[in-house]
Amino acid sequence: MKSVVATTYGGPEVLRVVDAPTPVAREGQVLVRVAASSVNPLDWHELRGKPYLVRIMRGLTRPKASSTGMGSDVAGTVEAVGPGVTRFAVGDEVLGFGSAAWSELMVVGEAGLVHKPTALAMTDAGGVGVAAITALQGLRTGGLMAPVAWLPGEVEPMRPRVLIIGASGGVGTFAVQIAKLLGAHVTAVASTRNVELVARLGADDVIDYTTTEVAHGLARFDLVLELAGMRSRRDLARILTATGTLVACGAPKGQWFGPLAAPAGLAIASRFSKRTYTSFLAKRDTDDLQQLADWLGTGALRVVVDEVYALERIAVAVAHNEGGHARGKVIVTI
Ligand SMILES: NC(=O)c1ccc[n+]([C@@H]2O[C@H](COP(=O)([O-])OP(=O)(O)OC[C@H]3O[C@@H](n4cnc5c(N)ncnc54)[C@H](OP(=O)(O)O)[C@@H]3O)[C@@H](O)[C@H]2O)c1
Repeated sequence: MKSVVATTYGGPEVLRVVDAPTPVAREGQVLVRVAASSVNPLDWHELRGKPYLVRIMRGLTRPKASSTGMGSDVAGTVEAVGPGVTRFAVGDEVLGFGSAAWSELMVVGEAGLVHKPTALAMTDAGGVGVAAITALQGLRTGGLMAPVAWLPGEVEPMRPRVLIIGASGGVGTFAVQIAKLLGAHVTAVASTRNVELVARLGADDVIDYTTTEVAHGLARFDLVLELAGMRSRRDLARILTATGTLVACGAPKGQWFGPLAAPAGLAIASRFSKRTYTSFLAKRDTDDLQQLADWLGTGALRVVVDEVYALERIAVAVAHNEGGHARGKVIVTI
């Protein structure tokens, strides 16, 4: 079967489409015939082995044999199930994320998959995994849980005010929509060409970062979700309410200690403030994936597709994502 591998660290040029052995679904695993996937920044961080912390997991000087397969998000059809799998059967259409997804066939732990809503196209489903779960978990980390309810006749309570920086990218396009579904007043930050896109996704206000300084103005946001990694905590603190939360999600700067120092710095700053400064790593969570699938099934949540690439053009797809200005998801079809 065709599979994309990287046997050395480097840029998109080190990716190879090879003929690889068909993987076997073991205990608790599902073998999926992949129809679509997408590119996430996670993929090219792993490809380059940078920040170097990545190499502790994947191999110090070159990727370990078990880590050469690339790609995370998956949408496809169940081909076989391993012992102990209870939620899936051969022929089920699924979405989720795992490892070595840029392949005709991949194995995924059962917890990393949910059933794909029938109404959702495979191509769109391939863009859900990592980005959508990051958006949901990032907003929850910032305390956004559910729409605030109020009784008939009562005055509508203030909606939490959420600022999303990097609103037009893979995570951001989900975050704008999910924040609205969770009852927030959303201000999206995007460049001029994406102002209309984020407004169409439901943003109440849009800041064009090419003409307006994001960190200026009143301290008005209960939550800032930072997906671009460009602005300092100190600057963003100025626009947080007195008890507001900054969730830093964008990759911290630096190839060596930055990725460790940044979360530690946020944690220390939090201890001396009523505001909360935090970073987080998205994690596999079946309930969260199911929540996303439910929204996608009703059309309440949509996948914004930037461009669709055939597997053979994976290097171009990765380079496009690595440019840092994708509009929604960069999809790969297999
Ligand atoms: N912590 C985690 O678990 C986790 C999980 C997934 C992703 N991430 C991180 O989250 C970040 C976003 O991921 P993604 O998949 O959404 O990336 P992406 O698809 O590449 O999107 C990046 C976005 O950043 C915007 N941007 C670029 N420069 C900007 C600037 N100066 N000011 C404001 N926005 C700017 C771009 O919009 P324009 O084109 O309009 O500039 C684009 O919308 C990445 O750093 C990724 O590593 C973290």
